[in-house]
Amino acid sequence: MSDLLELAVGIAREAGEMLLAKRPARPEVVQTKSSGTDVVTALDRASEDLIRQRIRAARPGDAILGEEGGETGEGRVRWVVDPIDGTVNFLYGLPEWAVSIAVEVDGEVVAGVVNAVPRGELFAAEKGGGAELLRDGAPAERLRCNGEVPLSEALIATGFGYLPARRAVQAQVLAHVLPKVRDIRRGGSAACDLCSVAAGRVDGYYERGVNHWDVAAGGLIAAEAGARLGGLRGRPAGSDMTVCAAPALFEELCDLLEPLDPERDA
Ligand code: IPD
Repeated sequence: MSDLLELAVGIAREAGEMLLAKRPARPEVVQTKSSGTDVVTALDRASEDLIRQRIRAARPGDAILGEEGGETGEGRVRWVVDPIDGTVNFLYGLPEWAVSIAVEVDGEVVAGVVNAVPRGELFAAEKGGGAELLRDGAPAERLRCNGEVPLSEALIATGFGYLPARRAVQAQVLAHVLPKVRDIRRGGSAACDLCSVAAGRVDGYYERGVNHWDVAAGGLIAAEAGARLGGLRGRPAGSDMTVCAAPALFEELCDLLEPLDPERDA
């Protein structure tokens, strides 16, 4: 493990332990962002504060982009932090949430960690070094996404944004996708969805409107497990659209999505 990945793993573990220890039975919403459904809890902030402190202590010259604190610092190395991906699940006590930390060098993600805390699973990857699932007391498991799955037999994860107009378009797109695939899963954490692609727990994923911190680490983990990550019409993955699946299924998913114009405004 490189020093950067080791540091990211240590910090993601510490933040995860803090969140598990401090999560009250019903966490309180302290702020809403893009809409009334886009919530922040006190522990989103506490988790990001802890992560920022640990990064600064170890690597004071690095930049940090965090969901709650925005962009700070400059430098060739930038840390991309989602202190809780799946905040709505965290709020309700559902287990699908994670601490997500990616490290970029010159704009390229080179290391990623998704600590799926309630499940006791930590996913980690390094550019060119493959992806692994780490569980306490178990040997590291090398991850490989499912290959050779036709669209009609594919289990596809997706997610929805927080803006009502965006959701209306996403619902229309979903109505066309659902009859064409095995089934749909909406887990509530894009970072976990991408790790599920990596681990073969779903076959593919698509979503419009994700932020870089939602998918930076999980995207590398899925790619290192053999999946292709991108946008529609040959564009890179981004907030317009992020698609992830083994290469043949990725093509089939894009061919299905493109004519539906899922990037349109309502
Ligand atoms: C959200 C989750 C969700 C996805 C949303 C994201 P947050 O992140 O990843 O699965 O559908 O697009 O915004 O708000 O829990 O950090």
